[in-house]
Amino acid sequence: MASATATYGQKESSDQNFDYMFKILIIGNSSVGKTSFLFRYADDSFTPAFVSTVGIDFKVKTIYRNDKRIKLQIWDTAGQERYRTITTAYYRGAMGFILMYDITNEESFNAVQDWSTQIKTYSWDNAQVLLVGNKCDMDDERMVSGDRGRQLSEHLGFEFFEASAKDNINVKQTFERLVDIICEKMSESLDAGDPAITGAKQGPQLTEQPAPPHQDCAC
Ligand code: GTP
Ligand code: MG
Repeated sequence: MASATATYGQKESSDQNFDYMFKILIIGNSSVGKTSFLFRYADDSFTPAFVSTVGIDFKVKTIYRNDKRIKLQIWDTAGQERYRTITTAYYRGAMGFILMYDITNEESFNAVQDWSTQIKTYSWDNAQVLLVGNKCDMDDERMVSGDRGRQLSEHLGFEFFEASAKDNINVKQTFERLVDIICEKMSESLDAGDPAITGAKQGPQLTEQPAPPHQDCAC
């Protein structure tokens, strides 16, 4: 649960020295590799043991984009159905989602549409989504072809990556692409004077240290 486990993001989360803060959620069925994906990205570690996430947890990572310091607050949600009420409460205010399935698990792929509906139901309209087929290192046990993944992503209007937390394939690329898409959307919305971005109306905070209104994101 966030209250019990937020400690491991605490030191960095108290660091106010950044230009933008993006809240990102990783969602998808249990065991698809969400926690592994986050650990690979944040700590460059991987463990074959499966410890199913209880509730929700987060890690913080700071990256640079065109001299801007972007703090990523990455929330790792439990895939198990019994935590759904808790996890969907965190969708609000998220600027990006990594929607994950396991290429060796047909059921996790079939659930993607439902996860996408959950995003539409509980999140901000402008939230950006990347579809990720994880465990691409397990090609021998593959049940979902890359083409099916791509077709579904096109149908849903998401970009798509196959990745492996284990072999460190496309992990960093997934996060960086999501950040780029969020930045692009942010620039477009600022140009259009979207009130959710410029702060004229209550909406997700794109930054905790807001740039002056109408200033383009330099990402
Ligand atoms: P919940 O917390 O229950 O929602 O599951 P999760 O999506 O966080 O799954 P988790 O990251 O705990 O991974 C489940 C199992 O899959 C673990 O045994 C991992 O070691 C394994 N796993 C995760 N990613 C990969 C991968 O890229 N390749 C392989 N071969 N195994 C992986
Ligand atoms: Mg987990």
